[in-house]
Amino acid sequence: MITTYKAAPDIDVLTSSFPIPGFGLVPINAFVLHGPEPLLVDTGAVIEREEFMTALRSVLDPADLKWIWLTHPDFDHIGALPQLLAENAELRIITTFLGVGIMSLTAPLPMDRVHLLNPGQKIAVGDRTLTAVKPPAFDNPSTTGFHDDKSGALFSSDCFGALLSVVPENAADLSDDELRQGQVLWATVDSPWLHKVDTAPFARELDAIRAIEPTMILSSHLPAASGSITERLLASLAAVPSAQPFVGPDQAALEQMLAQMTAGGPQ
Ligand SMILES: [Fe+2]
Ligand SMILES: [Fe+2]
Repeated sequence: MITTYKAAPDIDVLTSSFPIPGFGLVPINAFVLHGPEPLLVDTGAVIEREEFMTALRSVLDPADLKWIWLTHPDFDHIGALPQLLAENAELRIITTFLGVGIMSLTAPLPMDRVHLLNPGQKIAVGDRTLTAVKPPAFDNPSTTGFHDDKSGALFSSDCFGALLSVVPENAADLSDDELRQGQVLWATVDSPWLHKVDTAPFARELDAIRAIEPTMILSSHLPAASGSITERLLASLAAVPSAQPFVGPDQAALEQMLAQMTAGGPQ
């Protein structure tokens, strides 16, 4: 089920909680930035694309959208993208050369509707200036988040995500333990290469986020987080390189799960 809430007066969050058996819930968020040139950040999961369009229509008429910021073309970010492009001929997509390349393997983006933006580059979108930011952790080489100078929010894509037992609308409502453990588990799943990084250069990456002083961190996979908990979020990520690596259930575990489901019979 996709629900909506406000992270700021002019920013709507469209959110769905996706269950990962045995590991909890991962929020899947998209964001609508209202203004003279409305912008949608990502477009939901492919499996929920119809429901995503319904939720989107509850906060804005998709015909009024001017931009989509595609943080990266994973299945939990591109759900309604083809339909939105088909319905609105004026809509343009902010992405990278690599994002376009990956999309060309599933739903090619019309090149005249693409705006390529690399980390560090800026784009004016109505009354906002957006600066592209490479997040310190990511699962797809094309990943690009951004800082919005109007709201002060940092849109971090998969970075700062968490696996949770319940998904509130405000990350500050999570206990220290739940937030830290949920973030660390998510990062070991989503960015397993973090176990191979030197911690000093990684700490400089985290410092670069700290220097932005975001008023909010809006991750694709975490409830909206005000700037007051940025240090908590950064501390969790700093712990990931030395955390237990994630190993998924193997065939024996799968057979045990299936046997338990069979023994339980129809519900
Ligand atoms: Fe991803
Ligand atoms: Fe994602």
